[in-house]
Amino acid sequence: MKKIALLASALILLASAVFAAEPAKPAVSLTSADCVKCHAKAPADIEAKGRAHKTKITCQDCHNGHPPTNRKIIPLCGQCHEGKAHYKLGGCLQCHKNPHQPKEIVFGRDVTDPCLTCHTPQIAQLKQFPSKHSKLACSFCHDVHGKVPQCTQCHKAHSAEQGPGDCKKCHKAHQPKNVVYAADTPSKQCAACHAKAFSLLTASKAKHKTLLCVTCHQEKHKMVPKCQDCHGIPHAAGIMAKFPKCADCHGIAHDLNNWKAAPAAAPAPAEPVKKAVAPKKK
Ligand code: HEC
Ligand code: HEC
Ligand code: HEC
Ligand code: HEC
Ligand code: HEC
Ligand code: HEC
Ligand code: HEC
Ligand code: HEC
Ligand code: HEC
Ligand code: HEC
Ligand code: HEC
Ligand code: HEC
Repeated sequence: MKKIALLASALILLASAVFAAEPAKPAVSLTSADCVKCHAKAPADIEAKGRAHKTKITCQDCHNGHPPTNRKIIPLCGQCHEGKAHYKLGGCLQCHKNPHQPKEIVFGRDVTDPCLTCHTPQIAQLKQFPSKHSKLACSFCHDVHGKVPQCTQCHKAHSAEQGPGDCKKCHKAHQPKNVVYAADTPSKQCAACHAKAFSLLTASKAKHKTLLCVTCHQEKHKMVPKCQDCHGIPHAAGIMAKFPKCADCHGIAHDLNNWKAAPAAAPAPAEPVKKAVAPKKK
C-alpha cells in the first residue's frame, strides 16, 4: 500500500513536471517516453528486438493507463491479433515468451497442433505414409522454429561412404519409408545393403555391369523389372515357347550368361537374336 502511495505521488510529480514544461496543455498524462524513467527492462527489450511491437505501436497502445488509477493494463494478444487460426490458440505467451520481443519464440519438444495453424502439407504426408516419424511431435525434430535437422543427428548412415547429404537421395523426412530415388543414384548407395548383388554385377563380364542398379530397379524401392520390359521378344517364337524363362539359359540379371552356372543342356537359339533395346523409361 505504501508502495502504491509512493507511486501515485511519483506519477503526479512526473505529471506536474511535464505540465511545467508544456504550460500550453491543459491536461497532462503519462507518455510512452516516460516509461523508461522507472522501467528499464521492457524498453531495453523492445529497443533490441521489439520488431513490429516497436515500430508499429507504442507502450501505451498495449498498456492503457497505469496503476493505481488503472490496474488492468496487461493487454490480451487477441485485442489486436484476430482473424487467423493461429490467433485462436490459447497460451500465446507459452511460445512468445516475451511480448516485448514477439519473435523470440521458444517451445518444448512436444508441439504439433499449433504448427498446423500455419503448416499443413507435412502433416498430410505423415498421415498418408504412416511410419514411426508419424508418431513424433513436429518439434521433436524442429526444436527451434525454422531449423531443419540432419537425419544423421538421430540416425547412423547405412555405410561409411554415405554422408548426411545422401539421405535425401532416397528418403523424405515426412514419409521416410516411402523410398523413392532419382535415375542417377549411384549403385554404391544400394551396395550399402545389397553387397551380394553389387559384387556379382561388378564382377560379371556381361553388359549389364555397365548399368546402374536404378536403371533396372527404377524409381521406387523393391521394384523388379521383367527382362522383356527392355528386350522385347529376343528370340524366335519356337524357342520362346519351349523355354519361357530367360533365366533357364541366361541365369540371373546380375550374373548374366555365367554359362557354367546355367543348365548344361540349354541349347543355343536357332535364329540370330535381335539387338537389345535401350531401357524403357517408366
Ligand atoms: C514513476 C515511475 C513509473 C513510471 C514513469 C511508469 N511506471 Fe509502470 N510501474 C511503476 C511501478 C512502481 C509499478 C508497480 C506497480 C504495482 O505493482 O502496483 C509499475 C507497474 C507497471 C506495469 C505492471 C502492471 C501489472 O499489472 O503488473 C506495467 C505494465 C507498467 N508499469 C507499464 C508502464 C508504462 C507503459 C509506462 C509508461 C507509459 C510506465 N509504466 C511508467 C512505476 C512507473
Ligand atoms: C504488444 C503489446 C505490448 C507492448 C507494445 C508493450 N508491452 Fe509491456 N507487456 C505486455 C504484456 C502482454 C505484458 C505481460 C507479460 C507477462 O505476463 O509475462 C507486459 C508486461 C509489462 C511490464 C511488467 C512486467 C515486466 O516486464 O516488468 C512492464 C513494466 C511493461 N510491460 C512495460 C512496457 C513498456 C515500458 C513498454 C514500451 C517500451 C511496453 N511494455 C510495451 C505487452 C506489451
Ligand atoms: C495493441 C495491439 C497489439 C497487441 C495487444 C499485440 N500485438 Fe502483436 N502486433 C501488433 C501489430 C500492429 C503488429 C504488426 C502487424 C502487422 O504488421 O501486420 C504486431 C506483430 C506481432 C508479431 C510479428 C512481429 C514481427 O515483427 O514480425 C508477433 C509475433 C506478435 N505481434 C505477437 C503478439 C503477441 C504474442 C501478443 C500478446 C502477448 C501481441 N502480439 C499483442 C499489435 C499488437
Ligand atoms: C506453439 C507455439 C506458439 C503459440 C502457442 C503461439 N504462437 Fe504465434 N507464432 C509461433 C511461431 C512458430 C510463429 C512463426 C514465427 C515466424 O514466422 O518466424 C508465430 C507467429 C506469430 C505471429 C506473426 C505471424 C503471423 O502469422 O501473424 C503472430 C502475430 C502470432 N504468432 C501471434 C500469436 C498469438 C496471438 C497467439 C495466441 C493466441 C500465438 N501466437 C500463439 C508460435 C506460437
Ligand atoms: C504463425 C505461423 C507459423 C507457425 C505457428 C509455425 N510456423 Fe514454421 N514457418 C512459418 C513461416 C512464415 C516460415 C518461413 C517460411 C519461409 O521461409 O519460406 C516458417 C518456417 C518453418 C520451417 C523452415 C522451412 C524451410 O523451408 O526452411 C520449419 C521447419 C518450420 N517452420 C517448422 C515449424 C514447426 C515445427 C512449427 C510448430 C512448432 C511451426 N513451424 C510453427 C510460419 C509458422
Ligand atoms: C523425424 C523428424 C521430423 C518430424 C517429426 C517432422 N519434420 Fe519437418 N522436416 C524434417 C527434415 C529433416 C526436413 C528437411 C526436408 C527433408 O529432408 O525432407 C523437414 C522439413 C520441414 C519443412 C520445410 C518444408 C518441407 O516440407 O520440406 C517444414 C515446414 C516442416 N518440416 C514442418 C514440419 C511439421 C509441421 C511437422 C509436424 C506435422 C514436421 N515437420 C515433422 C524433419 C522432421
Ligand atoms: C530428431 C531425431 C530424428 C531425426 C532428425 C530423424 N529421425 Fe528418423 N526416426 C527418429 C525416431 C525416434 C524413429 C523411431 C525409431 C524407433 O522407434 O526405432 C525414427 C525412425 C526412422 C525410420 C524408420 C521408420 C519406420 O516406421 O520404421 C526411418 C526410415 C527414418 N527414421 C529415416 C529418417 C530420415 C531419412 C531422416 C532425415 C530426413 C530422419 N529419419 C530424421 C528420429 C529422427
Ligand atoms: C540408396 C537409397 C538410400 C539412401 C541413400 C539412404 N537410405 Fe535409408 N533406407 C533405404 C531403404 C531402401 C531402407 C528400407 C529398408 C527396408 O525396407 O527395410 C532404408 C531404411 C532406413 C532406416 C530404417 C532403419 C533401417 O536401418 O533399416 C533409417 C533410420 C534410414 N534408412 C536412415 C538413413 C539415413 C540417415 C541416410 C543418410 C545417411 C539414409 N538412410 C540413406 C535406402 C536408402
Ligand atoms: C537400408 C538398406 C537398403 C538399401 C540402402 C537398399 N535396399 Fe533394397 N532392400 C532392402 C531390404 C531390407 C529388402 C527386403 C529384402 C527381403 O525382403 O528379403 C530390399 C529389397 C530390395 C529388392 C527386392 C525386392 C523383391 O521383391 O525381392 C530390390 C530389387 C532392391 N531392394 C533394390 C534396391 C536398390 C536398387 C537400391 C538402391 C537404390 C536399394 N535396394 C537400396 C534394404 C535396402
Ligand atoms: C532396364 C532394361 C533391362 C532389363 C530389365 C534387362 N536388360 Fe538385359 N540388357 C539391357 C541393356 C541396356 C543391355 C546392353 C545392350 C548393349 O550394350 O548392346 C543388355 C544386355 C543384355 C544381354 C547381352 C549381354 C552381353 O553381355 O552381351 C543379355 C543376354 C540380356 N541383356 C539379358 C537380359 C535378361 C535375361 C534380363 C532379365 C533377367 C535382362 N536382360 C533385363 C537392358 C536390360
Ligand atoms: C539389368 C537390370 C538389372 C540391374 C542393372 C540390376 N538388377 Fe537387380 N534384379 C534385376 C532383375 C531382373 C531381378 C529379378 C531376378 C532376376 O531375374 O535376376 C533382380 C533382382 C534383384 C534383387 C532381389 C533378388 C536378389 O538378388 O537379392 C535385388 C536385391 C537386386 N536385384 C538389387 C540390385 C542391385 C543392388 C543392383 C545394383 C548393384 C542391381 N540389382 C542391378 C535386374 C537388374
Ligand atoms: C534357350 C536358351 C535361351 C533362352 C530361353 C533365352 N535366351 Fe537369350 N540368348 C541365348 C543365347 C545362346 C544367346 C546368344 C549368346 C551370345 O551370343 O553370346 C542369347 C542372346 C540374347 C541376347 C543378346 C543379343 C545381342 O544382340 O547380344 C539378349 C538381349 C537375350 N538373349 C535376351 C533374352 C531374354 C530377354 C530372354 C527371355 C525372354 C531370353 N534371352 C531367353 C539363349 C537363350
